[in-house]
Amino acid sequence: MLVAPSILSADFGRLAQEVEAICEAGCDLVHVDVMDGHFVPNMTIGPVVVEAVARAATKPLDIHLMVQNNPFFVDLFAPLKPGFISFHIEEEKHPHRLIQKIRSYGIRPAIVLNPHTRPECVEFLLEDLDMVLLMSVNPGFGGQTFIPGVLEKARRLKEMIEKRNPKCLIEVDGGVNDRNIHELKAAGVDVAVAGSYVFKHESYRRAIESLKV
Ligand code: DX5
Ligand code: ZN
Repeated sequence: MLVAPSILSADFGRLAQEVEAICEAGCDLVHVDVMDGHFVPNMTIGPVVVEAVARAATKPLDIHLMVQNNPFFVDLFAPLKPGFISFHIEEEKHPHRLIQKIRSYGIRPAIVLNPHTRPECVEFLLEDLDMVLLMSVNPGFGGQTFIPGVLEKARRLKEMIEKRNPKCLIEVDGGVNDRNIHELKAAGVDVAVAGSYVFKHESYRRAIESLKV
């Protein structure tokens, strides 16, 4: 399992040190939640702060867009050269075009599915994707309770991925901790996002290690 701590639960007064700490503690990606107050009822950070995160990080950024007007935000964040940019399928009329735009910047494209969204909606995009992110909470806030229905969704998605693009990763975001990580692994999940579990733990290193199953 690859581990992507979500900095949403970090201490923003010491953001650079927090990012350095999770990278030193062995995370694989730094998950950055960008919210615009329209697609979700919360606002987080824009390019100035994400640039500071990119400077502090020694691991690739995994930018999770929760916004309206995805292409605008892709252009805004592309100069920071994140590893991944993911966008919500619920907010995009032309996902295939946006995937091409992300890839044209040399960034790996990913699509996010809200808890209610059927995995079949990305079936004919899988060949062009590097990752599908399944939300296991309603997007907008850290510290919510894991929705177990995501396990069946991951299993169904995994079957489609094996047929169409076995290299495509499955990521899960929301309420992930050391109690559900084994079930997630068994369901075919490759990347675990964890915010409050990592940042509330007394040792970032032990928290990250406990998710590397
Ligand atoms: C929620 C965000 C998550 C969030 C996860 O909209 O996408 O990345 O930070 O936080 P936890 O792990 O606390 O559920
Ligand atoms: Zn996220």
